Amino acid sequence: MISVGGGATGQGPGHMLHSFGSKAIDGKGRISGRVLLRLLRFVKPYWWQMCVATLTMLVSSGAQLLAPYLTKVAIDENIASGDVGGLVATSLALAGALTAAYLASAAQSYILSWVGQKVLTTVRADLFRHLQALSVAYQDRHIVGVTISRVISDVGVINQLLSEGSISMIGDSLMLVGTVVVMLTMEPRLALLAFSVMPLMVLASALFSQRARVAFRETRESIGAVIGDLAEDIDGMRVIQAFAQEETTQGRFEAVNRANRDANIRAMSLSFLFLPVVDILSVAAMCIVLWAGGMMAARETLTVGVVVAFLSYVASFFGPIRDLSQLYTTLQAATAGGERVLELLDTPPAVRDRFDAIEMPPIEGRVELRDVSFRYDLDKGVLDHIDITIEAGETVALVGPTGAGKTSIASLVARFYDVTEGAVMIDGHDLRDVTQESLHRQMGLVPQDPFLFPGTIADNIRFGRPDASQADLVEVARLVNADEFIRNLPEGYETLILEGGVNLSVGQRQLVCIARALLVDPRILILDEATSSVDTVTETLIQDALERLLEGRTAIVIAHRLSTVRNADRLYVIDGGRVVEEGSHEELLELGGLYRDLYERQFSVSGE
Ligand SMILES: Nc1ncnc2c1ncn2[C@@H]1O[C@H](COP(=O)(O)OP(=O)(O)OP(=O)(O)O)[C@@H](O)[C@H]1O
Ligand SMILES: [Mg+2]
Repeated sequence: MISVGGGATGQGPGHMLHSFGSKAIDGKGRISGRVLLRLLRFVKPYWWQMCVATLTMLVSSGAQLLAPYLTKVAIDENIASGDVGGLVATSLALAGALTAAYLASAAQSYILSWVGQKVLTTVRADLFRHLQALSVAYQDRHIVGVTISRVISDVGVINQLLSEGSISMIGDSLMLVGTVVVMLTMEPRLALLAFSVMPLMVLASALFSQRARVAFRETRESIGAVIGDLAEDIDGMRVIQAFAQEETTQGRFEAVNRANRDANIRAMSLSFLFLPVVDILSVAAMCIVLWAGGMMAARETLTVGVVVAFLSYVASFFGPIRDLSQLYTTLQAATAGGERVLELLDTPPAVRDRFDAIEMPPIEGRVELRDVSFRYDLDKGVLDHIDITIEAGETVALVGPTGAGKTSIASLVARFYDVTEGAVMIDGHDLRDVTQESLHRQMGLVPQDPFLFPGTIADNIRFGRPDASQADLVEVARLVNADEFIRNLPEGYETLILEGGVNLSVGQRQLVCIARALLVDPRILILDEATSSVDTVTETLIQDALERLLEGRTAIVIAHRLSTVRNADRLYVIDGGRVVEEGSHEELLELGGLYRDLYERQFSVSGE
């Protein structure tokens, strides 16, 4: 969506909102059990796969714990007593145990990645569904890029946690406990000596986790800013180039990019500081075991096999600690990401169907705004006690200065928002009593900012009625005088529209949007500035077409060019959120108020 010079939709430039956006969504960086529990719910449908994964994890942990013990048996019993047969048996057992461990852990990785991908798809689909329900109001307050970063990167880290994290956390903890228990049972004195490095370990972990929390929060925040900046700048590239602001935007992008780099380097440095500490402590523990165990073995209070087995156990004791500390950072990132994703999922839609909402019956077309007041969010009021009644089949025009509230009125009739006070009724049904789907199905809207999807022209016209035949398409296009220009395009109706519709003129885009609205044969048609960008010849053609098309339908036409609304049954002049004048074109001219003023000014300027 590219609106050079900024549309009249009241959206500020994205960049100024970045900092706001990332702060607003920022988690505290603590690992919140509540968030994790809610995230785990996404894994619930795959409970039996997770059970299998847990089983494989148990097998591989058990086999890994068994291996050093078998080595001890080989040395102390088989080798010491020269029992060749026993040695062969023990070796085979060792081979079997290790093979089982590797196979089980491969199976576990496969299952977990599989579940991870499934969860990833579900969370993204949920987010998308929710974003659609959040409707237009959400866009008013959020930045596209930040939303994209939630849907893509935050969901990615959650996946990492849920799939790999959860199981390896259990596996590593089990290994840790298992190793401690086996060591204590086998040789308590040596075990306690080996664990003497633990206080240092605890100290290092505490120092690390504290700093890691901050560092990893920063990385999440800054990648959100990078993606946000990128999305906004690509969207606004025309403006950036037209105002020769490439240097400035480049500079700003480099700043957020650098901030992300620095945050990542800080986080990485922490990990790379911590991991050698773990390694050094593990070497220290091994030396202690070798030295103390060796002394005891020399005095024959201990067998050599126990010393060898202990060396393995110490190594497999620090492995899980290493993994768990890595996991801790994943957990950090996932909680931060999870919080952002959940926050999005928890944002209530501005417009929600009531639990007892009814289907809107086939619409006759009487539209009534009863004493409607409206405000976006907590801002100042935008509409102030508006009363408008449109009988079925009438065409009504809304005119008035920019920012008066015309588009807002149209948005209320389309129920993109609910009124703050009063009621919007169609055929006597309060819009809040009917389902949005049944309402929107019977309504056609040509928005002020004509939006086309990437795809062919035919796809775009067919949007609201995918099963429409080619003949229907052509007929509708002909009626709005779009057929001719479409045929002149390189591939006619099959011409691909690029993102944002940039390969069509704004006027052409509007014609396609009008055709799209008419194809669904709506009972109520809302045209917002529908003809503001077409030339006077085309405008006359559309005017002709509309007159025929609007017959028998209720239509709300908003236009700045007053020549286009002269034929409306009734005009409402909106100013400052109020209806200030009302009547036919002639009546309003005669009245000599705002309408006449606008009209005269327009024609003296444009010289029409
Ligand atoms: N999404 C929004 N969030 C907050 N305020 C908004 C939003 N859209 C419009 N406004 C505010 O509501 C007021 C009326 O806007 P509206 O778009 O209805 O005017 P309009 O009559 O359609 O103007 P124009 O002729 O320029 O299209 C303006 O003051 C505008 O700043
Ligand atoms: Mg408007």
